[in-house]
Amino acid sequence: MLSFTVSAPGKIILHGEHAVVYGKPALATSLNLRTTIHLSGNDGSIFILCLPSIDINKAWEVTDLELLYSTIQEGNGSIPSSPDTATLSRLRQFTDAEDGNAKDLAIIVFLYLHSQIIGSRGSLAALRVVVGSDLPVGAGLGSSAAYSVSLAAVLLVLAGQIRQIPNSWTREELGLVNSWAFEAERIIHGNPSGVDNAVSTYGGLILYRKGEALKPARGNSLQVVIVNSHVPRSTKRLVEKVKERLDKYPEIIRPMLESMEALVVKALDTMQGFENSDANVCYDILEELIDINQSQLNVLGVGHLSLEHICLLCQQNDFHCKLTGAGGGGCAFVLIRPDASKEKVKTLIKSIEEAGYMSWLTSIGGSGVTLHESMPLSS
Ligand code: MEV
Repeated sequence: MLSFTVSAPGKIILHGEHAVVYGKPALATSLNLRTTIHLSGNDGSIFILCLPSIDINKAWEVTDLELLYSTIQEGNGSIPSSPDTATLSRLRQFTDAEDGNAKDLAIIVFLYLHSQIIGSRGSLAALRVVVGSDLPVGAGLGSSAAYSVSLAAVLLVLAGQIRQIPNSWTREELGLVNSWAFEAERIIHGNPSGVDNAVSTYGGLILYRKGEALKPARGNSLQVVIVNSHVPRSTKRLVEKVKERLDKYPEIIRPMLESMEALVVKALDTMQGFENSDANVCYDILEELIDINQSQLNVLGVGHLSLEHICLLCQQNDFHCKLTGAGGGGCAFVLIRPDASKEKVKTLIKSIEEAGYMSWLTSIGGSGVTLHESMPLSS
């Protein structure tokens, strides 16, 4: 019986979030936290979609899906495309979707990619699709991109558009996954830059600029503590907020975006210069850039009191921290210098957790979207 598993990583943006929406570069890296999708054939006529982490457990008659797909735009798995307005409203109607609801969006994205990649005309196979994830939802760690990327890959394997051979996907196959995932991200976030799905697809450290070929970046692997403020927020709304500020104060905000670009270039130079420079000097620079970038993001209007509080706790413990992703809550990361003693890191984590935040000590980097021979689901 048909059965396989695909996983894709979350991400942190080290520098360049929001500016990347305006064509500036962002420096981002994959995380060792992943979303995993297991697909298997299903005897009978029921199609099952489960995302236990956000409480989705759907069962549809295959014939109902066939009927739905016959009324929406016709898909072609090898040509990624956006949904037309009629298709989106038909999918919304089918799922009884409320605007901006994360659960509804996950189901709509599933139905859209399934209909377009597998084909929206003709008979469908009954399947069971189970999604597990280590990533907190809506926290800035790329949970929606990891979902979109692993879903696109699973469906493209099923459609025979990419090969079902572990560790063998070519740049072209990954490009197709990335492009479909970007379409899914557009449904979820409105006007994303594409950085999240690119990191999740290709993995590692990347320098991303909208519309340009992706540049894998060489750089020292860094240790970070990720801190979840537990303040929920919407990437779509925060991207709109920056746009409103830019439209209102173009002379003030545009130079800030230029300055963020210069900061990304400096951060990348520093990360690449470790081999030929004094590591202490490099870490001093990286810490200062973190502080500067956090202030820049506050100027764009995407800070939050909880993030300021987390930065203050870090400062009190002699660490440096900035928000990552869209901001407005969500997650921040703290740079851990290699010479920081275990005791000092423990004290930092204790003070963060005593203040009610959640944290993980992790190293960054790691593989992009991956097909597994057979792997148990993360819960
Ligand atoms: C979200 O992870 C990053 C933003 O820059 C939005 C985007 O790039 O699409 C805030």
